[in-house]
Amino acid sequence: MKIAFVSTEIVPFAKTGGLADVSGSLPRELVKLGCNIKLFMPKYFLIDENLHGLKYSWDIGEMPIRINGIIRSVHVHQSKLPDSDIDVYFIDCPHYFHRYRIYTDDFDEDERFILFSKAVIETLQRLQWIPDVVHCNDWQPGLIPLLLKDNYGWDKAFDKTGTLLSIHNIGYQGRFSKSVLNSTEIRSDLFYPDGPVEQDGGVSFMKAGISFSDIINTVSNTYAHEILTAEFGAGLEKVLKQREEDLFGILNGVDYDVWSPETDKHLPFNYSIDDLSGKLKNKKFLLEHFDISFNKDIPLIGIVSRMVLQKGFDIFADAINDLMNLEANWIILGSGEDKFEDLFRRLSNQLPGEVGSYIGYNNELSHLIEAGADMFLMPSRYEPCGLNQIYSLKYGTVPIVRKTGGLADTIKDWDEENYYGFDHGNGFSFYDYTGYALYKTVERAVNTFKHKEVWKKIQTNGMNLDFSWERSAEKYLELYRLAKEKRV
Ligand code: ADP
Ligand code: GLC
Repeated sequence: MKIAFVSTEIVPFAKTGGLADVSGSLPRELVKLGCNIKLFMPKYFLIDENLHGLKYSWDIGEMPIRINGIIRSVHVHQSKLPDSDIDVYFIDCPHYFHRYRIYTDDFDEDERFILFSKAVIETLQRLQWIPDVVHCNDWQPGLIPLLLKDNYGWDKAFDKTGTLLSIHNIGYQGRFSKSVLNSTEIRSDLFYPDGPVEQDGGVSFMKAGISFSDIINTVSNTYAHEILTAEFGAGLEKVLKQREEDLFGILNGVDYDVWSPETDKHLPFNYSIDDLSGKLKNKKFLLEHFDISFNKDIPLIGIVSRMVLQKGFDIFADAINDLMNLEANWIILGSGEDKFEDLFRRLSNQLPGEVGSYIGYNNELSHLIEAGADMFLMPSRYEPCGLNQIYSLKYGTVPIVRKTGGLADTIKDWDEENYYGFDHGNGFSFYDYTGYALYKTVERAVNTFKHKEVWKKIQTNGMNLDFSWERSAEKYLELYRLAKEKRV
């Protein structure tokens, strides 16, 4: 099976969140299952060409691509996913991609990803490498299924190419003005109220992806059901309902070569389920880095997150006084909206020696927090899958989560499970989206932490779980087959 995997962030080249982790790891597992897979992403200014061995692709040469009536000159660079033979193609158009951020609020954000989508298709043509399936991730390549069927429909080579759209987050939809029709040269008769590309009077890339891709999936079972409702569908629930038969949920896997306490290169002290002493040393190291004194009996709660409303920081703010009165230390890493960045900056200034924060992006620190913290908090309003709670399980760092999306599918509340007579709980969770529910649950975790044997059991229950990609990659393969069948 030949797969073109299209994503706007891929570890280790460029990352803002979990999509990059998924894009850098799922393809490796698909190769093991016999797929022939090529990856496509934009060549952003921030990608270090030398470090990643990018080479100009002379075979492909210059591709003139028309966007908004202007011909842009596009080139392609090539490299491999590290430690693999998997080709990665970087679409190079400095006019659109030499900016300081991966995603921008610039007026031509739509054009950036229209160009990217067209360039991916034209690269496939030039390579004469016709995939069985084009796998599009999130809204940015969302127009590809439509482009393949329409604008590039003249190229019969793609007649049997299926498309899969993976929705990693329905909250980000790529909604732009109606002018997208002109700049992309989309047939105007496709645009009408409630039609396949129209949303609130504009064009939605995500909606176009949902309407025109052969198969759709999202990144957990619970989220696949949630997005069919008005509460979680962010306005796309109706079109998703229409496509319900073709909508699937596949839980993300994780790459344990990168995220395992035994081998993690970023940790000063590696450790394993058989000997957790290294975890305690990491805790001490981490606390001292933030000038917080080490006490093994005071739990350390970690947060690593994009600081946006999705992640539940409004209810965190509601509960902040009660939370800070608990006997616990906090270390928070993240960046995002100003109001949340300010909140955490203020908190660590007001409570030095108890709360540490790092506002920004720091990969090494994210690993150290996973290893050094006793608990990991994710009070998300919604969470398509979430990777940090899964990493936390492997690091013996007990997750405290809101029961939604992938968090609900991976974290089993310790007390609830005990109530039913099981002892395989691996974390703490709450359902009501309120500061009070959040606070009571953190309080429950902090109290349970005092019972060392119980705590050890919760930790080892989590560490024993296996969320590697194997099972989920097989499910993707099955979806590729379904997408392909639709085109025969
Ligand atoms: P999302 O994709 O919604 O941000 P996920 O839990 O799926 O949430 O993935 C987040 C990924 O981004 C994890 O690998 C996490 O460690 C990483 N991450 C988030 N914020 C930061 C940050 N400030 N510094 C380093 N890594 C971060
Ligand atoms: C999105 C979601 C997150 C998910 C990630 C990878 O960014 O917010 O829940 O884990 O994509 O699929």
